[in-house]
Amino acid sequence: MSNIAVIGTGYVGLSSGACFAHLGHVVTCVDVVQLKIDNLNKGILPIVETGLEELVAEGVAAGKLIFTTDVVSAVKNADVVFLCVPTPEGADGSADLSYIQTAARTLSPLLRSGAIVVNKSTVPVGSTKVVERELKRPDVSVVSNPEFLREGSAIQDFLHPDRVVVGSDNQEAAIAVGALYEKVGAPVVVTDPASAETIKYAANAFLATKISYINAVAAICEGVGADINDVVLGLGYDKRIGHEFLRPGPGWGGSCFPKDTKAMVKIAQDAGYDFGLLKGVITVNDQQYGRIVDKIRTAAGGTLKGKKIASWGLTFKALTDDLRDSPAVEIITRLLADGASVSVFDPTVTVAPKGLDAITVCSSPLEACAGADVIAVLTEWDDFRWVSPVEAAGAVSVKQIVDARNLLDRSEWRRAGFEYQGIGR
Ligand code: UGA
Repeated sequence: MSNIAVIGTGYVGLSSGACFAHLGHVVTCVDVVQLKIDNLNKGILPIVETGLEELVAEGVAAGKLIFTTDVVSAVKNADVVFLCVPTPEGADGSADLSYIQTAARTLSPLLRSGAIVVNKSTVPVGSTKVVERELKRPDVSVVSNPEFLREGSAIQDFLHPDRVVVGSDNQEAAIAVGALYEKVGAPVVVTDPASAETIKYAANAFLATKISYINAVAAICEGVGADINDVVLGLGYDKRIGHEFLRPGPGWGGSCFPKDTKAMVKIAQDAGYDFGLLKGVITVNDQQYGRIVDKIRTAAGGTLKGKKIASWGLTFKALTDDLRDSPAVEIITRLLADGASVSVFDPTVTVAPKGLDAITVCSSPLEACAGADVIAVLTEWDDFRWVSPVEAAGAVSVKQIVDARNLLDRSEWRRAGFEYQGIGR
């Protein structure tokens, strides 16, 4: 079992740290924010993530998971140090590496000889070399080990991955990092650093492409009278295509796809390739927000001015409290700009986020739709499936519903008197 230090306790650092401790390693998670560390030591988590609270409690109780702001004590005996710090979008769309560089400079004098530094943050191709340059420690190996964790199922994804990717020029270091995952029993793909870094971007860009593709096909379905749900069913059984990531919706969002697709376009441009295909994928996604706003406007009778819209959902997807680049936030912003008032219910949102102060945050789906002209389902929370259409019919002002996630049973809603609009059907 190894002694691991994790720098940064965001989604990736915290989930990875807790999972490594669960696999039997001794893990020290470091963050610069004292309050976050104090809370974690009390079992209070900064994020909503299925199963994470239990894993943190288990790791702390077993003495295998330690939270601290003291980077020196965390790093000095570590065999492996994971960099899990943010790589926000820079002004030109490329990833901003300053957090990684600062972390590497901080670690440099602290690492023991023979230690391994692992880049887990999503970093542009070439970043392993950047970390090597900042460290200036030829006795320390730098390895790329991208993560493929989805928010909402990060623990499941970590403990049951499809594959583990390790990129290094040093075979011994690659084997040591691969061995950390021995218990999860997944194939380990060992590559050079640039290939590992490319795999991460290519994976996210491909998944975003699948979703934009199906959203485009959904638009065609509406024009030709086909049903996207049936189309996806028929497509997905083809093993070369598969059913995953073909759910039509209001567009993809979150902290990864929007940032990583733009970064990939920039990486391509810097490499002398015009990635027109991916630019198209991003354009389709932008258009999708507009298509949903248009559907809501049509349902509201052709204008949004003075109309009351009930939004079911605000997070970028279900099972998270994350609002970063949420399609729901983007769509609501446009509804407000067009003169609508918006009431929102989301199971993980209790106060209006910055920039959306004009919305009313409600404590149930029915409260949100009181007096509404249109209900818009923008996030696929299960909670909305269980709302009685008959009760909703009694609460709204006009029986119009736009289901941007194809989540609800449309016959049931139509039986209750609603005009139901889904996506691509
Ligand atoms: C994504 C990837 O799925 C992870 O593999 C990756 O590790 C992560 O980014 C990252 O780079 O850190 P995540 O952003 O948590 O994970 O969420 P996804 O489940 O991929 O969903 C992204 C967006 O696509 C959401 O807005 C979601 O609603 C949308 N989506 C997803 C669809 O509209 N349809 C689908 O079929 C699937």
